[in-house]
Amino acid sequence: MTTKDHLLLYLKENQGHWVSGELISNNLSVSRAAIWKHIHKLKEDGYIIESAPKKGYLLSESSDPITADEIRKGLSTKIFGKKNITYLKETDSTNTRAKELAAQGAPEGTLVIAEKQTKGRGRRGRSWFSPPGDGIYFSLILRPIISPSETPKITLMTAVVLAETLISLMKLKLRIKWPNDILVNGKKLAGILTEISTDMDAVNYIIVGLGLNVNAQLEDLPKEIRKTATSILIETGKQFPRVKLIQHYLKLYEIFYDMFKNNDFEPIMNRWRELADIIGRQIKVDVIGKTHIGKVEDVDNDGVLILKDDQGRLQRIFSGDVTLARQLTRISHEQLIK
Ligand code: BTN
Repeated sequence: MTTKDHLLLYLKENQGHWVSGELISNNLSVSRAAIWKHIHKLKEDGYIIESAPKKGYLLSESSDPITADEIRKGLSTKIFGKKNITYLKETDSTNTRAKELAAQGAPEGTLVIAEKQTKGRGRRGRSWFSPPGDGIYFSLILRPIISPSETPKITLMTAVVLAETLISLMKLKLRIKWPNDILVNGKKLAGILTEISTDMDAVNYIIVGLGLNVNAQLEDLPKEIRKTATSILIETGKQFPRVKLIQHYLKLYEIFYDMFKNNDFEPIMNRWRELADIIGRQIKVDVIGKTHIGKVEDVDNDGVLILKDDQGRLQRIFSGDVTLARQLTRISHEQLIK
């Protein structure tokens, strides 16, 4: 263990209490100047440490860093996030960074995580609001031996893994919105961005990026998304340690991914259908330049939405934005009021 690790351990043992510089210096046999230097580094890593003359240092109870070391500690996976974690205090987009690493040969299970993204990317060219402190933004590198046509399964599986993580940790009543948004009380809590690199007819690598709103208050969200987005704190009234969430997700991911690789996709898809609760519903889907209205016949194992229009014709929809009929009624009602 380095001096910095010892110092962190000491501060953690006394978390929420002041410890004097002198005491730390005596206990760890390091100079006060060295302590100050390491405290500075810990703060850079995202630990919230107060310092005051005569009092010393205090590691705040709300300190919630998501560094590689914190994630690794107590992580019970075999591969995912085990060896290769890249933690960035700030980056443009973890998906972009992960793509670069994958192109350089980074192995399956590599995790790229950032405290803040300056150009967080969402589906369909949108941006993803990624301020520091409250959210989780990370990307996983996968290298499954599959054909490109099978990759939508990974996206569906990821939504199930995230949903199961949130249900088991905080009993959230959530719904998956096709293909892979997580909604709570009709508002978006998390989004998944899957990007793929192919070579001829094989998949080179897949990047699965996840953005999750954890400890943001309503007023922390930009005004324009306050009606449509939510966070764990808003829904449960409680702060949740981000590291615990990440570790649980990685553990489940490995289990579900093993099932997927063993061709055991049926139970995953069934669970997706259960959590999405979309089959049989009347919906509107906006696809670039076109809107489809109809009843959902099925979402097949490739994640394709099968829609039946009012003349009984079936359409296969590969990607788009879904609005449920209940919401459609609300929209037209609001339009009437205007
Ligand atoms: C969406 O719902 O539109 C998908 C949002 C995905 C956001 C995550 S945040 C981490 C990763 N890096 C990105 O730039 N995007 C994904």
